[in-house]
Amino acid sequence: MNGKRILLIVGGGIAAMKAPALIRLLRAEGAAVTPVLTQAGAQFTTAMTLSVLAGEAAHDSLWDIASEAEIGHIQLSRNADLIVVAPATADLLAKMAHGLADDLASTLLLATDKRVLVAPAMNVRMWHHPATQRNLRTLRDDGIGFVGPEDGDMACGEYGTGRMSEPEAIVQAIRDELTPQPLKLLPEAQVRTGALSGRHVIVTSGPTHEPIDPVRYIANRSSGAQGTAIAAALRDMGARVSFVTGPAEVPPPEGVEVIRVQTARQMRDAVEAALPADAAVMAAAVADWRIRNSSARKMKKDGTGKAPVLEMTENPDILAWISLAESRRPRLVVGFAAETNDVIAHATDKRLRKGCDWIVANDVSEGTGIMGGTENAVTVITEEGAEEWPRMAKDAVARRLAQRIAGAIG
Ligand code: CTP
Repeated sequence: MNGKRILLIVGGGIAAMKAPALIRLLRAEGAAVTPVLTQAGAQFTTAMTLSVLAGEAAHDSLWDIASEAEIGHIQLSRNADLIVVAPATADLLAKMAHGLADDLASTLLLATDKRVLVAPAMNVRMWHHPATQRNLRTLRDDGIGFVGPEDGDMACGEYGTGRMSEPEAIVQAIRDELTPQPLKLLPEAQVRTGALSGRHVIVTSGPTHEPIDPVRYIANRSSGAQGTAIAAALRDMGARVSFVTGPAEVPPPEGVEVIRVQTARQMRDAVEAALPADAAVMAAAVADWRIRNSSARKMKKDGTGKAPVLEMTENPDILAWISLAESRRPRLVVGFAAETNDVIAHATDKRLRKGCDWIVANDVSEGTGIMGGTENAVTVITEEGAEEWPRMAKDAVARRLAQRIAGAIG
């Protein structure tokens, strides 16, 4: 971070008390920090504290005559390599989402064309409120970076999501922002141009196999056909696709990066390694449980006629894992819901519970012929409600979904 300048906006909230520690860590890494304090932030820490630690004056007024004469707010954001908002309150995020500029902090945020990283901090109910969630989506679409919030005890005595990330985690996120990750690009010849060119999409597909012993496993009936068709459709629109697939019946498409896995845990690790991404489409039928007491050796009958007892334990939920942590969340996350009854109600609940943007729901009850078949009848659940698509070939569902994804992130 040597020589980099960070404009640190400190919003109002108990987490503002962590701002001095954050400045100390950043300075120790060689960064210069220009602190900006909102009026609410000044209730929790002082301009003097921030100035002393930063080694330069903290700014707290839009109407500072001396610097305003040099078009102060424009200059402040122009000089920065990165703007960090920590803590970012619900109010500040709402202002950012709506482009309000009624104080120095919000004016700086509107006047900048630099990368902005926010570390939200607020009460759990404020975090989950539909208005905040709507603002977060807008900010994500605007390309704002997020670190946290974390789960934990809140100053108000409640427990849940809303605690600001610790200064060390924020510094790590700043480091990541300032050192762009090189993209692992496919050879140019394989990338087709289109509405999604330059976009990276992760697609999970197929079943997972959860071992009982080296020769036996628990699996499901997913063929991988729908996930494979989606990966191919995204590729055809120019996206770079990381295709993380369990042991599927259908071969993976050409022209995508194929990462083969067996278990849910391997799938989660492969998704993590493929990040960052602009979108994630989680079409895999991930096993919800794995065997806790799986055996390294083939299990043998012991002659007593007694069957072994298999103990199950829950697998990581990859969709929730990628959706609910702002630091890793792609701008668009699409989940699937395979249901056998009350499809829309279950899928709507799943969308909220797992924190994804859309759920592609289908009825996999016996007789529909969908699981393992070539056709699909889906209902797409978004924030706006449920949209029923006519029954069509899985390829056609994939193309329509890819078009929609291009509309959202293209
Ligand atoms: N999923 C996941 N990781 C899991 C389980 C599911 O990423 N461990 C994803 C699937 O890829 C899919 C979505 O979550 O996009 C919904 O999968 P589904 O099996 O329908 O939901 P469940 O998590 O099993 O929920 P429930 O048990 O309530 O049906």
